[in-house]
Amino acid sequence: MTLNEEISCIINKEQVDVVDDNDENKITTQFNSIVSSLPQPKKLIVGYALTLKKTKSFLQPKLENLARSKGIVFVAIDRTIPLSEQGPFDILLHKLFGKEWRENLEDYRQKHPDVTVLDPPDNIQHVCNRQSMLQDVAALNLSNCYGEVGVPRQLVINGDPASISDEVAIAGMSLPLVAKPLLVDGSLKSHQLSLAFDQFSLSKLDPPLVLQEFINHGGVLFKVYIVGDAIKVVRRFSLPNVNGLEMLDVAGVYRFPRVSGSAASAEDANLDPEIYEHPPRPLLEMLAKELRHRLGLRLFNMDIIREHGTRDHFYVIDINYFPGYGKVPEYEHIFTNFLLSLMQNKY
Ligand SMILES: Nc1ncnc2c1ncn2[C@@H]1O[C@H](COP(=O)(O)OP(=O)(O)OP(=O)(O)O)[C@@H](O)[C@H]1O
Ligand SMILES: [Mg+2]
Repeated sequence: MTLNEEISCIINKEQVDVVDDNDENKITTQFNSIVSSLPQPKKLIVGYALTLKKTKSFLQPKLENLARSKGIVFVAIDRTIPLSEQGPFDILLHKLFGKEWRENLEDYRQKHPDVTVLDPPDNIQHVCNRQSMLQDVAALNLSNCYGEVGVPRQLVINGDPASISDEVAIAGMSLPLVAKPLLVDGSLKSHQLSLAFDQFSLSKLDPPLVLQEFINHGGVLFKVYIVGDAIKVVRRFSLPNVNGLEMLDVAGVYRFPRVSGSAASAEDANLDPEIYEHPPRPLLEMLAKELRHRLGLRLFNMDIIREHGTRDHFYVIDINYFPGYGKVPEYEHIFTNFLLSLMQNKY
């Protein structure tokens, strides 16, 4: 018997009683209690532990409204109360830094294997250190008929700034070099990057850091957002090319602003198609599939550049966990579909 048939059967039976009792209120009350005792569609409870800034950019009304209409409810996690005293949750979304939070979450994860934690804290740590962040891309050594994907040559500097110049010479690295703080810890400082144009100025840098060879890429960067199996590419303006002649004139360390995160999109810009064209879709799909698996992460993005003058030489220069999805067009659809798919795969 279908649900409708069941209800109408019960109502018909109750109507017989109504003729007997002639009590309309009674039938309404009984009808309501029957309906509420029937199995309701299960809600998907998503706990989230995000900074205020992240909550604001991610949990926009368009996401919450669409999610609600699909039976997904977002619940804020209270950091002052132990995780195991909160919930129950089906899924846990998080991006908070600090050892205490990581341990708390790992402990919760062990005790609640039924809850999908996006993503495991140790896997996130791996991409919060620029020494390990790109290792999996390098090991993958992706090259096929659609193109090749690598990482810039890089060197980790932990010691005395005075010896950086020697270390760079020994490693045979070419200037200019991008200097990036070793750890990405959510602070503004960890995103303060600089470009070093000559070997003498290298001693002004502030270790621990990673030095990466600067790759000319025509001033355009591709932010490739991953949400489970979904991939969305957004074009952004980036640093302009540096040519050999300019290099003769410039010296020193140039601190540059956060270019790729800025609101300026390069989507509609009138650019050379060789620079402008997105990386081939099959190449990105292969890369994303491998990295999801190797990194053990489902929510991340990659900054990818195309080496200037080539059509199919790409470099991954950065990977971020739980990036600013709020800026991605249609992210509310991508995200709700992803959350629902997690539950479908579970049951
Ligand atoms: N090896 C490189 N060659 C050329 N440009 C680079 C290189 N590395 C970084 N850049 C430029 O510097 C910008 C910031 O670098 P990166 O993404 O590694 O740092 P970030 O702190 O994560 O910045 P953001 O949060 O803005 O992505 C890039 O978007 C790109 O414009
Ligand atoms: Mg970046």
